[in-house]
Amino acid sequence: MPIKDLDALEHSNPCANPGLDEILACDPTRRRLLQGGLGAAGLALFGTPAWGAAARAAGRPAIGFAPVAAAAEDRVRVPAGYTVEVLYAWGDPVSDGPAFRDDAGNTAAEQALQAGMHHDGMAFFPFREGGRPSSRHGLLCVNHEYTDDGLLHGDGMKTWSAEKVAKSQAAHGVSVIEVREEGGRWQVVRPSKYARRITASTPCLLSGPAAGSPLLATAADPRARLALGTLNNCACGQTPWGTYLTCEENFNGYFAAGDEQALDADHKRYGIRPQGYGYRWHEHDERFDAARHPHEPNRFGWVVEIDPWRPDAPPIKRTALGRIKHESATVTLARDGRVVVYMGDDERFEYIYRFVSRHRFDPRDPAANRHLLDEGTLFVARFDEGGEGRWLPLVHGQDGLTPEHGFRDQAEVLVKTRQAADRLGATKMDRPEWIAVHPRSGEVYCTLTHNGRRGGPQRPGPDAANPRPDNVFGHIIRWREAGGDAAAGRLRWEVFVLCGDRASPVAHRRGNIRGDVFGSPDGLWFDAEGRLWIQTDVATSALNRGDYAAFGNNQMLCADTATGEIRRFLTGPHGCEITGALTTPDGRSLFLNIQHPGETGSVRSDPQRPSAVSAWPASQFGPAFGTRPRAATVVIRREDGGVVGG
Ligand code: FEO
Ligand code: CA
Ligand code: CA
Repeated sequence: MPIKDLDALEHSNPCANPGLDEILACDPTRRRLLQGGLGAAGLALFGTPAWGAAARAAGRPAIGFAPVAAAAEDRVRVPAGYTVEVLYAWGDPVSDGPAFRDDAGNTAAEQALQAGMHHDGMAFFPFREGGRPSSRHGLLCVNHEYTDDGLLHGDGMKTWSAEKVAKSQAAHGVSVIEVREEGGRWQVVRPSKYARRITASTPCLLSGPAAGSPLLATAADPRARLALGTLNNCACGQTPWGTYLTCEENFNGYFAAGDEQALDADHKRYGIRPQGYGYRWHEHDERFDAARHPHEPNRFGWVVEIDPWRPDAPPIKRTALGRIKHESATVTLARDGRVVVYMGDDERFEYIYRFVSRHRFDPRDPAANRHLLDEGTLFVARFDEGGEGRWLPLVHGQDGLTPEHGFRDQAEVLVKTRQAADRLGATKMDRPEWIAVHPRSGEVYCTLTHNGRRGGPQRPGPDAANPRPDNVFGHIIRWREAGGDAAAGRLRWEVFVLCGDRASPVAHRRGNIRGDVFGSPDGLWFDAEGRLWIQTDVATSALNRGDYAAFGNNQMLCADTATGEIRRFLTGPHGCEITGALTTPDGRSLFLNIQHPGETGSVRSDPQRPSAVSAWPASQFGPAFGTRPRAATVVIRREDGGVVGG
């Protein structure tokens, strides 16, 4: 089974929230719309003419680069007039530490002092320079989502040992590194008092309503206050008080249970399976044996807050934000200053969530801000016909979230967030990934990467917000909160773009992109001027094949949300995913992660031929990078020093 290819996995949501197929049964107009293949006329029904006007009024940024063509090369290609350099690759030391060994001979202890594998979401925390945020010096927090153990160990998984499990765990988690531009080049500052690695075994505090709950208690931690490690750190968020939010996504895959009988319905609702995803950690670390430690999986699936400025401060799992397969945790402020966090649960037919804090952010009270994510209300989204939507609160005692339905208290509502959202009738989405908030208009955009099973046998059919059956290319939805207040109870939404080729012979796969075609949108980020950067994650088993034959390698595009124009900015090396885009405050240096170059649709890389698919970054930047494909953070700049994208 592929590590990353979630298409191979079953979805876990058996609940009966209605799909559009049921609504269609009594609405012939909508039925004709879908039978007609959702052409432009049909799409107009989802639109609201005010969207473009609102974005324009908010200030429309220029997109000034010439697009690059789709490509399948073993390199990062950027537009003419741009440069790309590697900053931080798998195995690079975070500070003064052990160098990367190209034979994968670094020990677990050494790996714990080096960049982990498979960089994903990240955030930049500028130092202050002349009283302003610096664009030349900062801390970078980088997620390391998962490992390819065929590549991580010299002989792959041919033999298996406690040392290999420890190395795999050490290659997960988060890097905090100090970075500085000096002499025209960005470099990692070594040594740095801020540099650290947080791994799958780093002690993390449990905080918020579910901390201390018996559902999180284990033999090693009967008080349920201290979990070991964070893992499958996917997308992220950044708070106004200067901390990093890292999101635990496919945590279920690390647990095994021996057989089906060892797993209860709650475990199954989160996709925990007898054999996991094949990481084999449970063979040498019994806390990943869910039969022996059934509460250990409950200690993952959270948003974890890290203070990059305090290297001794433990990460904190903020349980008030719910337990799901967290993709992003995008932070904005409500009108009255309360903190709002948008989050997706990335699995087929799962939901979009929003947390609203009880207390307000106060820039003058850093001590109080540290606890803002511990108290508040978690909501789940329902996208209704006609472009209306509602945020449904997940509050114990309300709407059937009661003991007779399996929710003894708010802690149980949060540990079983998915089951609570099922009861409330939330809208099942096509795999929510990243969420981005327009810096001026406050409009919210969310990638729905794809869902080839929508409309399949005994699956939910299309609905208004997920309008295509067999949605192999994905789409991006956007919404506006009522009254422009991120804490409002109602919203208006529309589909921003349906991905895929406009000329597809298959009507329901036809896209409506104005510009360069792409599919499987995943990473999503607004720059300060309002350009929307879209990064793609076509599954490695689909890349450059079948429906994706003409799409090239994974890529990054830039969208004008007022006109809908989308232009391809970058193409990546073989087998990679593009993720994590952000710029320095001045917009002149763009950091980006090239995740899992060389990955194939097979289980893990062949340790005998680790570079059979890709030798990036060496293939582009020379033999100093070794021969193995290595995930890396790159920096992209304009040769004329201008704003990236402008
Ligand atoms: Fe880790 Fe859903 O991407
Ligand atoms: Ca993702
Ligand atoms: Ca993805």
